[in-house]
Amino acid sequence: SIGNSTNIQWHQCSVKKEDRENMLKQKGCVIWITGLSGSGKSTVACALSGILYRRGKLAYVLDGDNVRHGLNRDLGFKAEDRAENIRRIGEVAKLFADAGVICIASLISPYRRDRDACRALLPAGEFIEVFMDIPLHVCEARDPKGLYKLARAGKIKGFTGIDDPYESPLNCEIALRHTGGECASPCEMAEEVISYLEEKGFLQ
Ligand code: PPS
Repeated sequence: SIGNSTNIQWHQCSVKKEDRENMLKQKGCVIWITGLSGSGKSTVACALSGILYRRGKLAYVLDGDNVRHGLNRDLGFKAEDRAENIRRIGEVAKLFADAGVICIASLISPYRRDRDACRALLPAGEFIEVFMDIPLHVCEARDPKGLYKLARAGKIKGFTGIDDPYESPLNCEIALRHTGGECASPCEMAEEVISYLEEKGFLQ
């Protein structure tokens, strides 16, 4: 039995991941973008999907904020809810990767253990963790949705980086840094990810 499901079996189809990948001329994988609110996760995710689209590659973005409008609308922001949000998106991303798609998941995913659990769902090398390594003060100065202001005023409780934790990755595949007071542009950051994908043979 798995979770609450009993008497279930795995049904195998004759068309395999590799067949779909050959058709698409790419390798399915999960690019997991983690970082604080306002660090640019969604912007980089969209820039990346744009570059891939123009190269004829099939990518799909699963954005935390967006998925919370549907599949995860029952979840809030306490640690158990974030864990379930991340678990579900990890499982969906795994299905996309199995379909041969380059799945770009962008969500805060503040806890290391939750991200590591998603990594463990995928074969080695197919989970590419991208850390938006942008200091809190930069994210807070941007405050694109005005949420930091509300959090500082105590109007949002448990806001990541203010009164809720964010655990930086220890072994991410790619860190997109803020250097010398300047951030690289979203396109430059996306290009860094593209180079990684090329180097590892995900784009044929
Ligand atoms: S998580 O932690 O991975 O489950 O979060 P995620 O699904 O990425 O959702 C983050 C977006 O929800 C908004 N929001 C909050 N973020 C952090 N903490 C609290 N308490 C909170 N409440 C609402 C916020 O707009 C986040 O969007 P981004 O795109 O990260 O700014």
